[in-house]
Parts: sequence; C-alpha cells; structure tokens
Amino acid sequence: MKRMLSGIKPTGRLHLGNYIGAISQFKKYQDEYEMFIFIANEHAITVPIEAKDLRKNTKDLVALYLACGLDPSKATIFLQSDVSAHAKLGWVMTCMSYMGELQRMTQYKDKTAKGEAGITAGLFTYPPLMAADILLYDADYVPVGVDQKQHVELTRTLAERFNHRYSDTFKIPEPLTTKVGQKVYSLQDPTKKMSKSASDPKGTIDLLDDPAAARKKIMSAKTDSIGIIQYDPQDQPGLANLLTIQSVLTGEPVESIVSRYEGKGYGELKKEIGQTVFDFLTDLQARYNEILTSGKVDEVLKEGAEKASFIANKKIRKVYKKIGFTI
Ligand code: TYM
Repeated sequence: MKRMLSGIKPTGRLHLGNYIGAISQFKKYQDEYEMFIFIANEHAITVPIEAKDLRKNTKDLVALYLACGLDPSKATIFLQSDVSAHAKLGWVMTCMSYMGELQRMTQYKDKTAKGEAGITAGLFTYPPLMAADILLYDADYVPVGVDQKQHVELTRTLAERFNHRYSDTFKIPEPLTTKVGQKVYSLQDPTKKMSKSASDPKGTIDLLDDPAAARKKIMSAKTDSIGIIQYDPQDQPGLANLLTIQSVLTGEPVESIVSRYEGKGYGELKKEIGQTVFDFLTDLQARYNEILTSGKVDEVLKEGAEKASFIANKKIRKVYKKIGFTI
C-alpha cells in the first residue's frame, strides 16, 4: 500500500479553503493509502502565537479532522512535537538547503517584499522542516493545496541531494493537488486565496462559523457584472470560486451545476450554495462538539504519536548513522 502524508498548521481557525484543498482530500484517500496526518505545531510558532491559542487550535484541529471524517483506524493522526525526529531531521535538512533556495520560497519572499516587520528565522527555515516531516515517513504522495507545492518540490530536491551525498535513504515524494479546489479564494477578493490571516473576515468561511453567518457571506460574495453562469476563472473568478465550493461540498461536477443554471441569475445560485454551506457546517459542528467533549482527541493523539514515532525514529537512526553522528 502506498503511503501518503500531510499536515496543517494550527495557527488559526480552519476555513473552507483548508477543508476543500486538504481535509476533504485526506478523507477521500484514507481508504486507498496508508495515511499519516499531523498537526504542524512546530510550524505554527514561526509567527508569534499565545500558548493558550495554540493549545485551543490544536485540540480544535484534531476534533475537526475527526468530525470531517478522518478515521483513526485508517489514518495515523499525530502531533508533530510529539515525535522528536521531526525537529532532528529538520535541522539536518536545514543544513542541506542553500540560502538562495530558501529565499525563493514564496511565503518568505512575499513577506519580505511587503516589508513586514518581525519575520523570524523560523519562517525562513520552515521549508526544510516541512521536508523533514515528509521524508521521515517515506511518503509516496503529499496531498496539498497548490500554495504548498513549491515546498514539496524543495523536499524532492533535498531528498535527492541527501541520497546523492550519502547514499539512498529517502523516497522521493510527489505532490498531489486536485483539479477542483486546488485553491479556494477569498469571497471578497477572488484574486487572493482564502486564508487564516485574511484581514477581511467576510471573505473567509471558518469551519466553526455560525452557519447562518456563513450563508450570509456566500450571499454577499463578490461576483461580476457579466451575468452569465459559466466556469471562467479568468474573467469570472468570484463565480468560479463559488462553483468550486458547491462542487466539492456536494460532489456534483461543475459542468452539471452550470447546466442546471443556464439562463438563471447569480442570486439563485448563491441561495443554493448558501444552503449547502449552511447544512455542511451544521452537520460538521454537531460532530465536532460531540468529539471535543468525549476525550477522543487525547486518545487519538497518544496512539498516533506511538505509531508515528516508531517509523520516524527508525529513519532518524539511519540518517544519524549516515551523516556520522552515531560513532
Ligand atoms: P497550511 O496550514 O497553511 O494549510 C494546510 C493545507 O490547506 C491548504 N490550503 C488551501 N487549499 C486550497 N485553498 C486555500 N485557500 C487554502 N489555504 C490552505 C494548503 O495547501 C495545505 O495543504 N506548511 C504547511 C503545513 C505542513 C505540511 C507539512 C503539509 C507542514 N509540514 C508536510 C504537508 C506535508 C502549511 O503551512 O499548510
């Protein structure tokens, strides 16, 4: 069975972009692959975050993973900091990376271009840590949104470099992005991705948003003045984004939605999508609340850490031997 691994940073509340770009994919693949899904809490401290928020986000994230349908009997769900091999291999991968490579990573580049203050060294070196996350498990595939593809490419480069410099140690992973929903955009500015840090909360639908408020966000989503329902991300990015959301949440192909709405207006379509989102969030939150109070989160993480550590420790021992740490 091929192995798949992915993670999400617990930096804020999860939104529909994370669900569509990542979690819905994990759920789909857990039957076909040996899955490893982790909470990337070591990545979360690359920007300042209060301990109480990190704790809450982490618990929420695990509960949401489970509420979204991830099944701990099929997928190993764990906390990155519970498996010390991540930090260990992260350092090795940092030493395998060149400054120029890391300077080209979009997130760092964007933040420095904007002249943002307080950029940490951790933000600069987080792609090699992400490489370590993946390589520890010999993952064949890494399902991610399109914004993370560059990091998986770097992972491949670092793995090849290590294998070449020492000897064959790491499997070369493939990024896996889906056609629909590679990137979900802000409802208010469909040229920007929906993100946890979005300054405009009307543009982002959090998975824990009040379902009625989320419906309102869909109703007031920015579209265009063309007035024809068709899938045209170039000229009608707002509409294309809404069609994507509807398609992923219901499983109905975009073409089929478009043909049902031939000759109809945006208002009617938004009503249907608003209802889809309302129902989706209502169901999800009911399961989430039940899981949070059941003690299941701690249980799943404990078991996950044991399974993940077993594999990761084996790999780090091998690496330590090859680089000369083990005398
Ligand atoms: P993070 O936490 O920013 O995002 C988690 C996942 O959600 C996807 N995503 C989106 N997909 C579609 N539309 C959007 N608007 C959107 N926003 C986010 C991301 O592509 C990602 O798949 N560095 C990673 C976490 C990480 C990781 C890893 C992932 C750490 N180590 C190893 C895979 C493998 C991150 O910051 O994701």
